[in-house]
Amino acid sequence: MALTRVCMTVNGQPVDEQVEPRTHLADFLRENGGLTGTNLGCEHGVCGACTIEIDGAPARSCITFAVACEGASVRTIEGFSEDPVMAELRAAFTAEHALQCGYCTPGMLVTARDIVTRLPDADEPRIRRELSGNLCRCTGYVGIVRAIQRVLHKNRGQSPISHDAPAK
Ligand code: FES
Ligand code: FES
Repeated sequence: MALTRVCMTVNGQPVDEQVEPRTHLADFLRENGGLTGTNLGCEHGVCGACTIEIDGAPARSCITFAVACEGASVRTIEGFSEDPVMAELRAAFTAEHALQCGYCTPGMLVTARDIVTRLPDADEPRIRRELSGNLCRCTGYVGIVRAIQRVLHKNRGQSPISHDAPAK
């Protein structure tokens, strides 16, 4: 199979590689870049496990061809290790027990960060709607939603959310 050259930025570093045109971005990142924080679940754009950022917006790397990212800026979960918003979210996910096996968590965190930064006034229904493209097989969504609310409330200077409400 003929290879195609692709140049992009991954986590701030220039990347210049030869790939098969059929290679999707998640395989490219994992196999060429060793960035195994990007998980693959359904591989057809449904579960959100493979969510990363392309040019600042969340995207599914399993249905994006690597060659389609020519010139793009790609950020994987590893690229957020020094990010203060992600640090808040990681702490909130821990505090709210928002993960169990952790398989969905990298994609969840990328989407959660997008919610926190793009929708500072998001209420619970909006958070749930925004999260609808990320599936978790373990926890249910109560802890995940609460973790995002915790960061949003803190950013608004509000008191922490109450845990007295019945879980759904
Ligand atoms: S692995 Fe990409 S959406 Fe499920
Ligand atoms: S924590 Fe296991 S799939 Fe979400």
